[in-house]
Amino acid sequence: MPFRTLDEAKDVQGKTALVRVDFNVPMADSGIGKVVSDDTRLRAAIPTIRKLMGKGAKVVLLSHFDRPKGKRVASMSLKPVVGPLAALLGQDVAFADDCVGPSAKSAIAALPAGRVLLLENVRYHAGEEKNDPAFAKQLAELADIYVDDAFSAAHRAHASTEGVARLIPAFAGESMRAELQALDKALGNPERPVMAIVGGSKVSSKLELLRHLVTKLDKLAIGGGMANTFLYAQGHDVGASYCEKELAETAREIIRLAGQNNCKLFLPLDIVVAEKLAPGAAARVRGLGEVDEDERILDAGPETVERLCRAIGNSKTLVWNGPLGVFEIPPFDKGTMEAARHAAALAKSGKLVAVAGGGDTVAALNAAGVTGDFTFVSTAGGAFLEWMEGKTLPGVAALEA
Ligand code: 3PG
Repeated sequence: MPFRTLDEAKDVQGKTALVRVDFNVPMADSGIGKVVSDDTRLRAAIPTIRKLMGKGAKVVLLSHFDRPKGKRVASMSLKPVVGPLAALLGQDVAFADDCVGPSAKSAIAALPAGRVLLLENVRYHAGEEKNDPAFAKQLAELADIYVDDAFSAAHRAHASTEGVARLIPAFAGESMRAELQALDKALGNPERPVMAIVGGSKVSSKLELLRHLVTKLDKLAIGGGMANTFLYAQGHDVGASYCEKELAETAREIIRLAGQNNCKLFLPLDIVVAEKLAPGAAARVRGLGEVDEDERILDAGPETVERLCRAIGNSKTLVWNGPLGVFEIPPFDKGTMEAARHAAALAKSGKLVAVAGGGDTVAALNAAGVTGDFTFVSTAGGAFLEWMEGKTLPGVAALEA
């Protein structure tokens, strides 16, 4: 590994470890305040916390939550995380209402070795997102070592993800290490043939990604709303479907690039359409070019999904980002569910390395009940996309320094 891991963090008994976690978790309003509604990211941090506790360190957790833009916004406090985190750890978690200054310092001074303290939202300070060196220094002053366990925030060059890592000895946490190893196996040094499925609605948000992938992969399947733009670009009528018509030329350029790089492109062969998007709406399978004016394309058709499953079966590695249809609203979940179950079964039997990431994708895999069967499912959204685009993530680069 090009960075230090926690195994190399020696002599930390009684020392303070500042651990950057990503507790930007979904929260719901309970009527009397906010409650954590999905604790996946809390669970992801547990191995690092336990390991440092086991080494007798004072474990000081640092995270952002939401986007308060440098101001104290009461509804964006990290306090609601304390209860669920303590329950997962089976012991009390202390809380400091600021992440720097006297309140953080006195809470750390009072923290016994081997115990855990959560600091308030780091984005309450404007210096965080500006990666202000003075603010990074204030963070560094709190601790003896810095541990980054927040891959999902590593695409941000902020003080808590980048600046501070350059000021005190920095280590990758357990979840960061697992994430980087899995991602390297999927795109860095994959077993070939390697295939990606890229879905979701907007081509515009994934242009860089598609351009990059066609130069790296053996196969690329395009699904979801963005496939409509490609179908339109090839001269097919897409009726009332979501479609970024102004990107038709860009779509044709990506098709050309794929050809030049020997990347086999999988676009829909057939599609599922309906006049309205509603649960249980009457859905029809149509061939390309058979879409009526008032119909919308809402899922991949059976022939498309069958061909996709065959292509997955002939691959050794699969990277998945974005659903194939409107999976939240049955019956338009069918394509995504079938392909997800097929990939999961192959991964479970050891025939395929299957890695997925991005909020929608994880929700789709959860809905299909196959998350546990994938080789690796990333907790990251934006960071996973930027990594797929081949970009250097500042939070990871700072650990390598
Ligand atoms: C995420 O949820 O993707 C990360 O926590 C990053 O959040 P951000 O987009 O507000 O920086």
